[in-house]
Amino acid sequence: MRALVIEDGEEIPLLGGDVTEGLVRVGDTVRRPPGERAELVRDVLLHLEKVGFEGAPRYLGVDSAGRQALTYVEGEVAGRPRPSWIADEDRMLSVARLLRGYDDAVEGFGIPVNLPAPIEPPGLPDLDDPPELVGHQDVTPENVVFREGRAYALIDFDLARPVSRAREFVNLMLWWAPLGADADLDPEFRGLDRPRRCRLLADEYGLSTADRGRVLGLCIALNERAWHTMKYRADTLGGGWARMWSEGVGDKIRARQTWLQANADTLRSALFS
Ligand SMILES: Nc1ncnc2c1ncn2[C@@H]1O[C@H](COP(=O)(O)OP(=O)(O)O)[C@@H](O)[C@H]1O
Ligand SMILES: [Mg+2]
Repeated sequence: MRALVIEDGEEIPLLGGDVTEGLVRVGDTVRRPPGERAELVRDVLLHLEKVGFEGAPRYLGVDSAGRQALTYVEGEVAGRPRPSWIADEDRMLSVARLLRGYDDAVEGFGIPVNLPAPIEPPGLPDLDDPPELVGHQDVTPENVVFREGRAYALIDFDLARPVSRAREFVNLMLWWAPLGADADLDPEFRGLDRPRRCRLLADEYGLSTADRGRVLGLCIALNERAWHTMKYRADTLGGGWARMWSEGVGDKIRARQTWLQANADTLRSALFS
């Protein structure tokens, strides 16, 4: 690993994410208190640098306070209220291209063995969804840096984990179609033609025919798991997880499940239209 002196300097808190407490910007770096899989994030970011993938921060090392130091990626990140461009189709498609680029770049990293177990409720049923790569798994508007109107980099790899491409695509649809009843979405995302947008995302990502046939079922299964996982994390980890739970994320997931069940057939047909 490179020898590197990580300078100290004025610390500017980075707000807007949901979970990471103590995240700061120092000059052209960010410092992240290590997450539950900090070594995996480090190794993935180093791999991305090695293969020349531009769309992620660079890993710089660990600073004197034990935090991971990464490059600060200049650009626009959508906070709340959402910017007026958040639902633009071209922006959405650029996120699909970025995620596809990431997935292709990370594939050669392989599936690491002996990862610490994810913090999940005991007894969650197995998904029967063999992993193909270490997915990003959190492609929210807050975790994409845009430059010149296009998605330029993914940030926040804390939820990276071995997953299938179908599962990466579910995450992409979830945040960028996006999925859920209009009333439960940010106002800027209401009234969109979601079947059309899912189809466009699938084409831009290059989703296989087999995966088109199974992503809706997978999405429903994952949404069900998400309720249990979020609740478990709120109960056991507290912090941002507990805050999100008390702000009603569980009810949002339940409402999304109802919407998904009512719309899955239409969305699935659109993916094949
Ligand atoms: N490497 C980075 N480059 C640019 N901005 C960043 C970077 N890391 C974090 N940020 C900014 O800080 C916000 C919160 O960081 P994030 O890593 O997403 O934390 P959380 O885990 O709380 O979601 C992001 O939405 C983004 O605006
Ligand atoms: Mg984030």
